[in-house]
Amino acid sequence: MYDSGKIITGLIIFVLLISFPIWYNHGDAGEVPKPEMPKNSKQCVLPTIEMRSNHMQLLDEWRDEVLRTGDRAYFEIEGKQYQKSLQNACITCHTSKKKFCDTCHTYVSVSPYCWDCHLAPVE
Ligand code: HEC
Ligand code: HEC
Ligand code: HEC
Repeated sequence: MYDSGKIITGLIIFVLLISFPIWYNHGDAGEVPKPEMPKNSKQCVLPTIEMRSNHMQLLDEWRDEVLRTGDRAYFEIEGKQYQKSLQNACITCHTSKKKFCDTCHTYVSVSPYCWDCHLAPVE
């Protein structure tokens, strides 16, 4: 016949194992970041999906273009002019580093060193 003791022990271990991420995080799977979006504009430099995964490369490209070839070329979003610049573009729309950049970066544990030199918005 069945050994109900072993089955119950097995079941308890199984339940503990599959629920591990839940009780290990005190009942939730960790706060998913909710970056605060700009209120005055609807469009980013590139489509949102691309920005989400490629903003680091875009920033690197801008830096290289500005520093190596002096190309700060203006571009237009929704009729307004912006420069290739962290402070004079990104931060003019994303006005809070804490409520925007940091929400994601803290979640994935990256801390870009850019702000050692570049001015973060005063908050
Ligand atoms: C003209 C204003 C404007 C500028 C300049 C701008 N953004 Fe955005 N950005 C937005 C808006 C508006 C959204 C949200 C678009 C949407 O709702 O789909 C956004 C979305 C994003 C996202 C995606 C957020 C998410 O939750 O997926 C990232 C990352 C981002 N921007 C980073 C940057 C960086 C880095 C720069 C500078 C290289 C920059 N943005 C420049 C307005 C701007
Ligand atoms: C939607 C979430 C999200 C937002 C908002 C966001 N980032 Fe990021 N960022 C990431 C992720 C995820 C990585 C790590 C990517 C990786 O490791 O490949 C990252 C990496 C970076 C890096 C490269 C860091 C490194 O050490 O490799 C830079 C630079 C950067 N982000 C700048 C910014 C700036 C500036 C802003 C605000 C204007 C911003 N990001 C907003 C998600 C975001
Ligand atoms: C050691 C100091 C330092 C660090 C760290 C640094 N930068 Fe810079 N960055 C500069 C200087 C200086 C310039 C030239 C400023 C100018 O000529 O307008 C510059 C220019 C730039 C530019 C083009 C001009 C502008 O106004 O934004 C971009 C984009 C840029 N950096 C992005 C980054 C990013 C992204 C990081 C982090 C991954 C970073 N920088 C880290 C010093 C630094």
